[in-house]
Amino acid sequence: DENQVGHQANSLVCINDEGTIARIVLAGDDDYQVIVNDAKQQGTLVSLSDDQVLLPGFIDLHVHAPQWPNSGLALDRPLYEWLEEYTFPLEAKFKEAKYAHLVYDNLVETLLANGTTTALYFGSVDNTGNLELVKSCLAHQKRGFVGKVVMDNPEQTPAYYRDESATAALNETENFIHEVATLNENQTIPVTPVITPRFLPSCTDDVLAGLGKLAAKYDLPIQSHCSESDWENGYALTTHGKRDATVLDEFGLLTDKSVMAHGTLLNGEDIQRFKDRGVGIAHCPISNVYFGNAVLPAKKLLSENVKVGMGTDISGGYDPSVYQNIRQAIMSSRLLNDGVDSEITPDLRGKHDAAITAKNAFYMATVGGAKSLNLATGQIKEGYIADLQIVHAKYPTFGQQVPEDTFEKLMYQTTVSEIDHVMTQGVFVK
Ligand code: GUN
Ligand code: FE
Repeated sequence: DENQVGHQANSLVCINDEGTIARIVLAGDDDYQVIVNDAKQQGTLVSLSDDQVLLPGFIDLHVHAPQWPNSGLALDRPLYEWLEEYTFPLEAKFKEAKYAHLVYDNLVETLLANGTTTALYFGSVDNTGNLELVKSCLAHQKRGFVGKVVMDNPEQTPAYYRDESATAALNETENFIHEVATLNENQTIPVTPVITPRFLPSCTDDVLAGLGKLAAKYDLPIQSHCSESDWENGYALTTHGKRDATVLDEFGLLTDKSVMAHGTLLNGEDIQRFKDRGVGIAHCPISNVYFGNAVLPAKKLLSENVKVGMGTDISGGYDPSVYQNIRQAIMSSRLLNDGVDSEITPDLRGKHDAAITAKNAFYMATVGGAKSLNLATGQIKEGYIADLQIVHAKYPTFGQQVPEDTFEKLMYQTTVSEIDHVMTQGVFVK
């Protein structure tokens, strides 16, 4: 569960030709030495040095691929201004294939280098750019889920960057689904197209209804933003007289293949709705500091068995590293927690038992993400896909260290330089 991380020394992870973990052989097992010798002969044995650790690859549940050039920029602006002044103008540039290729290739490589083996991407409105993103994922063997962003509401989107109409948006979404299928032919890790209404304010009711139908027709994952900010929450209440989770649900957009970003302001009723439908939440702790001004009650959601994974939310979040988001998730949760001496400062911050551990955060970055995407990844276990990373500690230990401590230090201190190798579906990509 979310409170445990298993570890195994002196063992051999056997990966078959399909890139699946076929077996984990322990040093004490009868055939251990035979298998090691065979692998040596075939030249397929990879040995870890004493300071290296094998971990599952991370799953980034929420990345805006076209916002990569803006990462680390304009974080002091409120969401609405940030979208209008920085984000929409940048995303509009992705109708140009050459620019899209340049940015996306770099992003995909960067995410892999950071140990992220699977990512759920928002693309942009134009499919020219979106197909470049699909091609970059395929070229780099990266497990990608990619959505053509839908935004057709003329009141909340600029004329230079929107779908021309609900019908046009639905046609382009359907075209994208077919074009991805063509690009996927003969590929070992196919890209999955994702139904992607940007968020409630950007979309007309007609488009939301149509997208719900397309998701059902093609049995596809769905992604959007939900309960991210006071502004968005207020918009839903003023225009629809309902909460955004309710509206999305009524249009068939909350299913067990849905991933909703942020969710910091979900209320009890919304959370019950997410549980009933099997919706996953992309926890974007860095972005939430800047645009949501809120902390996701991750501990509570995990203990209630709501699916929660980690998202970088580039460029609402400034860093492409899931490790960095693991750290922020832990730190933010502690700010939500009530004081040590809560009798003296009762209800100062107000949430009892809100702090999460490094293990909880690691669980979200691996198992939580995999559950949200219905994937057999995120664990080093027989039958699971071999999406893995090999890392080493940043600093010396100056003596013996128990595995739990090694793990915790890795979570707090790993940067791109300590990630030695990354593998997707049994193939080294770093
Ligand atoms: N809400 C609608 N679009 C966006 C976006 O691009 N980033 C974030 N953080 N929130 C959004
Ligand atoms: Fe986002």
